[in-house]
Amino acid sequence: MIDRETVDRIFATADIVEVINDFVKLKKSGSNYKGLSPFSSEKTPSFFVSPGKGIFKDFSSGLGGNVVKFLMEVEKLSYPEALRYLARKYNIEIHEKEATAQEIQEKNERESLIEVTSFAQKQFTDWLWHRDEGRAIGLGYFKERGFRDQVIEKFQLGYSLETRDAFTMVALEKGYKLEYLVKTGLTIDKNNFRFDRFAGRVIFPIHSLSGQVIGFGGRVLKKDDKTAKYLNSPESEIYHKSNVLYGLYFAKNEINKLDKCFLVEGYTDVISMHQAGIANVVASSGTALTVEQIRLIKRFTKNITVLYDGDPAGIKASLRGIDLILEEGMNVKVLLLPDGEDPDSFARANSSTRFIEFIEQNESDFIRFKTKLLLKDAQNDPVKRATLISDIVKSIAVIPESIVRSVYLRECSKLMEIDEAILYEETFKIRSAKAGEAGKRHRPEFPPSGFSKKAPAHVQLNLGKDYKHEYELIRTLINFGNRELFPGYDDSPLIGKYIVDEIRADDLVFEHPVYDKIFDIVAGFVDQKMKIDTSFFILHEDIEVSTVSAEMLSEGYDDKMSKLWSKKDVQLETEEMKLKDIVPELIISFKNRKVLQLINETHSEIKHAQELNEMESIDLIIHKLQILNDLKRNISKKLGDRIILH
Ligand code: CTP
Ligand code: MN
Repeated sequence: MIDRETVDRIFATADIVEVINDFVKLKKSGSNYKGLSPFSSEKTPSFFVSPGKGIFKDFSSGLGGNVVKFLMEVEKLSYPEALRYLARKYNIEIHEKEATAQEIQEKNERESLIEVTSFAQKQFTDWLWHRDEGRAIGLGYFKERGFRDQVIEKFQLGYSLETRDAFTMVALEKGYKLEYLVKTGLTIDKNNFRFDRFAGRVIFPIHSLSGQVIGFGGRVLKKDDKTAKYLNSPESEIYHKSNVLYGLYFAKNEINKLDKCFLVEGYTDVISMHQAGIANVVASSGTALTVEQIRLIKRFTKNITVLYDGDPAGIKASLRGIDLILEEGMNVKVLLLPDGEDPDSFARANSSTRFIEFIEQNESDFIRFKTKLLLKDAQNDPVKRATLISDIVKSIAVIPESIVRSVYLRECSKLMEIDEAILYEETFKIRSAKAGEAGKRHRPEFPPSGFSKKAPAHVQLNLGKDYKHEYELIRTLINFGNRELFPGYDDSPLIGKYIVDEIRADDLVFEHPVYDKIFDIVAGFVDQKMKIDTSFFILHEDIEVSTVSAEMLSEGYDDKMSKLWSKKDVQLETEEMKLKDIVPELIISFKNRKVLQLINETHSEIKHAQELNEMESIDLIIHKLQILNDLKRNISKKLGDRIILH
């Protein structure tokens, strides 16, 4: 358990813009920052960060909250994991409270799995550097490949001893549970025989976007070995192959800076290129490129260059994957390496200046590349030419921007010596067929995403109850609690105090636990005659409180986010000016709601009692109903001709 003081220091130090910028390319926009949502695939930025408030708000997914919440969402971290991430980033020493037995049990599975993989990485690295076997075989191999110490350390490479259960034994001895060793794939447990998945292999740890080790790749060293050259960790709670790009953790800053990403095949390519001074490089590692992986890259840049070794069969096999990149609206270039070279061997055989020069001179546009490649094949065979044309047009048709499409169509018409109009027609056919398909699957969104005001999750999560009134009241309370209800009048109460007094006067409670908590906190400020400090909510240790309040505050009326939110600027001023009307109205309709609710419940109580023929209790309940009805009339009188919000 991280102690409270450390948590406070972490929050005080973490700069939300700096933290988020590691995941999303942010641009300044007024007093806020904006970028493309990491939680959805979008083309127009609707993801905002407000450094002043210390919160982010993503209008396309509805998510919002403080910096910890962001890490929890984007990296699927638990609360303590997110805090540890920040502590590491800002070099804050963590003071742990001794965890109780129960706390240890309660640690969720993810954390336990990460603990195991992180231990394994340290063990493998230790064996690589400090065991004779590791040094002779593992380190010897890396050195032979030309990896220098620095890069071996940076990528946390390791070595798993040849003894078939060496790792499993050490891990069990240290108290790591067999269950987690098996789930992370480090141990294979067959008929009670336990052995190491990676025994005798050099190890390439795979890192998450936040730098945690989530899986491994292991390469055999013996040439004659019949097993696969590379083995990877299996899918697990922490490692989803299709969502991970090898090297992204080490590349993201450079990708962001250079606005460009190189995509290569595997571990060794990434490492060699790093060593050659090219750090904006990632690998899909073994599997075919997925949409999720492309979107990961797209968070940092729209420009991607795929590096190919000169093997034509391999290139053709990967062409489909590249259509996926085009479909995401990214700019794709390709770089064909000389025959027989992969990025790894090329980087080793050439100086980094030469490598960079080679890239600059040989990088070419993907569509052009594909056209030329296939043209070479088709030569003068008319049937092959026809397939080629439809193949290229398919690639062009997936590009979302029409301008980009038309540029390509013009160019291809020249290259393939075919009428541009025909290509247009083909493209149109493909696109409308696709649109038809999509239309059948989901109806078009209206209003378009990012601008529609969706009900926040905690309002929707109502299990038959409706928390809209509670939400509105609490939102008003924390956004405007410090203002005077009747500005300019003597003795005007502050809105915060007014609301708290009114709610307490009738002993009302907020049914939604989060609103109830927030109300209690505000009441605390009011009781002590203190200004309501909104950062207190946003930095609250209860992540639900911080998230919900961040949501409510981002719906405030004094910044750009809210303009996006409510669109019409006119509306903004009027709500502030109308507070003196709105606040009492909210209170009264809140009370009205409560009474109506009670009346409803009482009606069913009567029905129930009638069914059971309990005459005495019916009398009591009817009496209660009369009181409630009186109350309802009173409220109506108070309301006068006010409109009750329903
Ligand atoms: N790769 C893989 N699985 C395989 C083969 C290759 O994941 N069965 C990936 C690895 O990430 C590797 C990259 O593809 O880094 C390059 O493959 P290859 O050149 O065959 O691997 P090397 O380790 O470089 O082997 P060699 O020394 O024989 O070139
Ligand atoms: Mn190789």
